[in-house]
Amino acid sequence: MSKISQAEYDVAIIGAGAAGMMAAIEAGRRGRSVLLIDHAKAPGEKIRISGGGRCNFTNTRTSAANFISGNPHFCKSAIKRFTPTDFIKWVDQANIAWHEKTLGQLFCDGSSVQIINMLIDHCRDANVEMHLSTEVTRVEKNADRFHLMTSEGPVVATSLVIATGGKSIPKMGATDFAYRIADQFDINVVETRPALVPLTFGPELLEQTSTLSGISADAEVKHKKTTFREALLFTHRGISGPSILQISSYWREGNEIEINLIPDLDLFSLLKAERTTNGKLAPQTVLSRHLPKRLAEWVLRGKQFPQKFGDLSDKHLNQLADAAHHWRVKPVGSEGYRTAEVTLGGIDTNALSSKTMEAKSVSGLYFIGEAVDVTGWLGGYNFQWAWASGWAAGQVA
Ligand code: FDA
Repeated sequence: MSKISQAEYDVAIIGAGAAGMMAAIEAGRRGRSVLLIDHAKAPGEKIRISGGGRCNFTNTRTSAANFISGNPHFCKSAIKRFTPTDFIKWVDQANIAWHEKTLGQLFCDGSSVQIINMLIDHCRDANVEMHLSTEVTRVEKNADRFHLMTSEGPVVATSLVIATGGKSIPKMGATDFAYRIADQFDINVVETRPALVPLTFGPELLEQTSTLSGISADAEVKHKKTTFREALLFTHRGISGPSILQISSYWREGNEIEINLIPDLDLFSLLKAERTTNGKLAPQTVLSRHLPKRLAEWVLRGKQFPQKFGDLSDKHLNQLADAAHHWRVKPVGSEGYRTAEVTLGGIDTNALSSKTMEAKSVSGLYFIGEAVDVTGWLGGYNFQWAWASGWAAGQVA
């Protein structure tokens, strides 16, 4: 690994992920000397694994409503100034083919590596000096400048941008670096927790749902006033799939979520009609016409019903419809940072300028990307936040 070439830079950026590379490109384009440091061997590792290897790089429907934050207005300035259309222009100029999968989610046709290569090219063109496999062991601020000790030697910078992301997927190099720096400079950190993460069941619920593992359903999932309608997947630990990842950002331990496993059907009315036409059939046979077989068995579990469907009362039919439309379930936890796509919480937005991402109490210190208490829904919103917040800091740092 080559030694850092200069003792002083205008801007030092720690974290060469989505947000850090964007900030580096923009600051470099302004003629600032930029040092971009990452402890990983390669930049943008989360971009590489994102979207199943195709990177869901933005969402055309991005608005403040798609983000969770202590201050829901905080993200507005950045996402209005660097929009999905702006990022699509970059992607088009790099001749990267893309498609909309669903709900405004844009993916590469080819590979997420194309996005990383585009960002690396822009970094090179903007004269950004990138140092990988480099640790930062100390950060201090003296006489209006930041003094860093790194494994490649000491560095001084006028501006310091922290872009080290959140805590999810520690085996890929995620650290709590941003929160430690915030702490060092007396900047508040909103409590962090894994988000966009599968939820887990306790032993009793796992036993009850053991036959469903592997089944997926188009489900409506509700927690208090928040509802998502996307796929749900039963796993051998609990429940997953896009609808569950989405609701996991809102769910808290001890709370119940309500799941409608067949949101397009009115099961009670359907079964009532079948009671007349198919009265001689077994309840299991009739239910299996409307639900996957294993789910039908599960809905009927433990119910002492007559053998013939025609003998079921309205009360019985209501019980079946209720089990499928209003399944109330209390997960015990989540799979944690090991599999979470993002970290909820982070650097308190009250401590930052929404226009520049600069800390209000420490001039020249910026926090961007996932490290900040702005967390997007599943669907390309987290990258759009990383691009937009990185872009905002890059205009001024
Ligand atoms: P990011 O985590 O990308 O980068 C932080 C960088 O800092 C890393 O390179 C890391 O090595 C470095 N770093 C950390 N600690 C350091 C230290 N102490 N010293 C030096 N360097 C350090 N989002 C989306 O919008 N669409 C999608 O398709 C997906 N898909 C997806 C899949 C999976 C499996 C995961 C885990 C996540 C996603 N996401 C996503 C979320 C998205 O990847 C995430 O929100 C962004 O990468 C955040 O960008 P940042 O640049 O803030 O952090």
